[in-house]
Amino acid sequence: MNIVLKSEAETRAWGETLGQALTGGIVIELVGDVGAGKTTLTKGIALGLGVEEDVQSPSFTISRVYDARDGLQLAHYDFYRLSDPGIMADELRDVINDPTVVTVIEWADIVDGVLPAGRLRITAVAASDTVRELTVTGPAEVMEKKL
Ligand SMILES: Nc1ncnc2c1ncn2[C@@H]1O[C@H](COP(=O)(O)OP(=O)(O)OP(=O)(O)O)[C@@H](O)[C@H]1O
Ligand SMILES: [Mg+2]
Repeated sequence: MNIVLKSEAETRAWGETLGQALTGGIVIELVGDVGAGKTTLTKGIALGLGVEEDVQSPSFTISRVYDARDGLQLAHYDFYRLSDPGIMADELRDVINDPTVVTVIEWADIVDGVLPAGRLRITAVAASDTVRELTVTGPAEVMEKKL
């Protein structure tokens, strides 16, 4: 599935629709260059998951966890600055196996071996200053919802 989003607001809104469709246990890998819109998308997903806190990029903290609707949590990771997956890979294994957590990961390459085959993968490309093109691949049960 390919989607064109013409503003930051559109990206957030699309993320919100996705967040509304999500259930616990889903892992979302966000792929794309610096500034592609991965964190912006995550902010939208958080809205759709009913997260009330302000979602900040976990670039420096590596991970942040937010309470969400229906007893769920949103775990947001950014592994851009991680050079040794070691401990993080162990933590991630636990989190992605937790059916009450929606996991969103930016710069996931370093933990590739830990990610489930059934993850949702969203690739974002900046087509211009304001336009982002998304390619979404993943499990049919998630894709069939109103994305
Ligand atoms: N259509 C759009 N969708 C999303 N962001 C957009 C769009 N148009 C412009 N932008 C801008 O692009 C930037 C996206 O930044 P964001 O932090 O979401 O990227 P990122 O992929 O998380 O980068 P990083 O790899 O550094 O974490 C923001 O400054 C945002 O305002
Ligand atoms: Mg980011």
